[in-house]
Parts: sequence; C-alpha cells; structure tokens
Amino acid sequence: MTFFSRLRVNTKFNIISSLLLIALFVALAYSSYRRDQSLIMKGAVDTARTISRQIIETRDYLSRIVTTEPEYNENLIPQVAASRVARQLTQGSNYYVRQVSLRYRNPDNRPDDFETAQLTTFRDVKAAETWQVTVEKGKKSLRYLLPMVSDQSCLVCHGSYDTAPAFVQRRFPRGHFSYGYKVGEVIGAVSVSVPMEGLYHEIGSNLKRDILYDGLVLAAFILISGWIIRRTILTPVKAVAASIAEVAHSGNFSERLEQRGEDEIGALIASFNELMAELDRRTIQRIESEDRYRNFIEIAQSPIITFMSDGKIVISNQKAEKLFGLTKQELLGQSIFDFMEKGVVLQGAMRDYFSAGSSDLIGTTTLQKVRDVCGRLFEVEMVISVSQSDQSPMFSAILRTVK
Ligand code: HEC
Repeated sequence: MTFFSRLRVNTKFNIISSLLLIALFVALAYSSYRRDQSLIMKGAVDTARTISRQIIETRDYLSRIVTTEPEYNENLIPQVAASRVARQLTQGSNYYVRQVSLRYRNPDNRPDDFETAQLTTFRDVKAAETWQVTVEKGKKSLRYLLPMVSDQSCLVCHGSYDTAPAFVQRRFPRGHFSYGYKVGEVIGAVSVSVPMEGLYHEIGSNLKRDILYDGLVLAAFILISGWIIRRTILTPVKAVAASIAEVAHSGNFSERLEQRGEDEIGALIASFNELMAELDRRTIQRIESEDRYRNFIEIAQSPIITFMSDGKIVISNQKAEKLFGLTKQELLGQSIFDFMEKGVVLQGAMRDYFSAGSSDLIGTTTLQKVRDVCGRLFEVEMVISVSQSDQSPMFSAILRTVK
C-alpha cells in the first residue's frame, strides 16, 4: 500500500482503470467465447440432424419404392443408396457420416464403442436422438446419433429369412443375426461425427481479434483519460500547490491564480485567492498596528520593552534605551533577563504563565531592580502586559524609575 500511496495520481488512476477494464474485457471475452461456443455447438448439432434426417428420408423412400431391383443392382439397396447420397452430401466438409447397427450385415457398418453404447440405449429406451462431445486420442469431436426404426417396408429384407428376397438370402444365410426385426424396433442409427478442432478454430481467431480490439480500446482510454485528468485536475492542482509553496517560502501574499472554470477546481482556486486576499489584508493590518504601537511607545514617558517568552527584546523605546545606556540596535535581540537583578524570577514567571496561564508578575506592578550597561542597579516599578501576536505571546514591560 505504501508503494501505491507514493504513486502519482495519474499513475494510480491508470492502474485502477486498467485493472477494471481488463477485468471487464476478460469477462466480456469469456462470455462471448462461451456464447460462440454454444452457438457453434448448436449449429453443428443442427447440421448433423439435417444430414441424418435426409439419409433416413432417402432410405425410407427407397425402401417403399424398391422391390426386386436390388436383385440386379445392389446400389439400389436402400441402405447402400442412402449411404452414397450421404457421402455426396458431406463431401469436402468436416462431417463424417455412417449408418451403423448392432446386428450389422456389412462389417463396414459395425459400430465403434461409443456407437455401441448409444445403440444399446436406443434399443432399450426410446429416444429421439443423442449427441455428446467425446475425446478420442486427445482429440475432441462432436458425436451425433439418430435412431432408425423399422417399418413394414424394412421387414421385407430385415424380417424373416423365408420371405427375404433371394439376393438377401444369398448374402446372409438363414440364422444370420440381421434377420428377425419387428415393426417399431430400432434397426440401427445414422452416426455423424465432426472434430471440434475445426469448429472451434473460428472462435479462437474471434478471441484473438477481440483481445486485439480490447487492447487498443484500453490504450486509447488510458491515453485520453490521462490527458483529460492532467488538463482538468492535475495541472491546476499542481499550480495551486506550487503557489502555496511559493507563498510559504516568500511570505508574499499578493499572488493570485487565474480561475478558469466554475467546477470544483475553480472553487479551489477561488478559495485560494480569497485566502491570499485575507492574509494580505491581515498582514497589512498587522504592519499598520505594529507601526502604531511603535509610534505610541516611542512618545510614551516611561521606558517600555517588548520581549518574547524567551526574553528576547523585539521592541524598545528611547526612554528604555536611555535607561539601559544602549542604542536601539544594541538593545534589540538581547535578553531582558540579563538586565534584571532577578532575571531568574522573571524567567520563572514566564514559565508559570505558560504552564498555569497566569503569573503574579504579569498584570501587577512590582518593584524590581534593573542593571544598566555599566552594571549600575536602578530600582523601578514594573508592570508587564501580554499581547498575543501571530504565533506566540509578546510581553511588554513598562518601567518607572523610583526616585
Ligand atoms: C431391399 C431390401 C432391403 C430393404 C427394403 C431394407 N434393407 Fe436395410 N439393408 C439391406 C441390405 C442388403 C443391407 C446391407 C447393405 C450393405 O451391404 O452395406 C442393409 C443394411 C441396412 C443397415 C446398415 C447396417 C447393416 O446391417 O450393415 C441398416 C441400419 C438398415 N439396413 C436399415 C433398414 C431400414 C430401417 C429399412 C426400412 C426403412 C431397411 N433397411 C430396408 C436390405 C434392405
């Protein structure tokens, strides 16, 4: 935190806004990635379903139309013709189509492990279709299966051996497991598979493009917002800070800043200018009142010495200079305690004043002995009054020589 607190406002702002934006972009990219993924998945399932239905329709049509033709042309066996159509249909695409059966006639139509599991499910439970993403040898693919249910027309060749056409009987002898189906039974399924790699490739490049755009937006945001913050906040605040430092250094309250707007920064500058005007006015007042005080004590008939709490003499009048036998220059800056016979007592009185708020030496007339430059002692009546100056109190001692 100390590291962070030492950073400049602009840097802090950039760090915070970048983190927020990055979090936002990541969340958006992730959600759009997920949306793309589910859309692509849905699209792929739709395509697989369409292909499968087309095959089933083709085969059903042929099964109803074709009777003895396969006897002369095996390409007209409904399953064979439908497979050819499917192959034509999916040529050049990622989709791979088969027709499989647990009790297959053609070994090419033997189901793999996944298909066997799904076919068993279809056989036992009635289901419209099924799909799943599987991983095989580290490669993901979408697998889709649509069951094929036998109707009366199928039983001509898939029913009993005795009623099957001769070309079927020739190829599949009595007792072959591909006979004996009943109406409504699942004979097999259209199986479609498509590698996910090909499907997701597009999302991957979408993601890369998104990240690039987001990065550009982020950079532009940081540049523009940094510029705005510098112009509208940092530069004016810096100017105020510099002026305050300058005033603190020089004590010159005549400085004013140009107020540009009516916003918070404008208000800050206005307050600064007001403060300076007030300080300026007070300084002038103080100088005037000090001058008045100096003139006043100068014409007073008694010696007057004004000193600080440490005894340092700051103002004196002619009478006082005469009493101590020193010039004003010599007297100012000296300690009043040194001129008193009992300087230590006065020093104690100062301490009392600070600790207790009052002292019996202040505000009352006491008899004291003071020493002049030659060391001669005079008896004087002394009264001390306190006045509060800017920071610390000042004490004025009025002395009157006792004849
Ligand atoms: C004219 C006879 C005939 C009719 C009608 C017929 N089939 Fe077939 N069917 C065959 C033959 C022959 C094969 C084996 C084709 C091959 O060698 O690839 C076969 C293969 C299949 C296969 C592929 C699995 C396997 O056994 O190799 C399925 C599934 C299938 N038929 C389902 C049906 C359905 C469902 C119907 C009714 C809509 C139907 N058949 C109508 C003769 C027929």
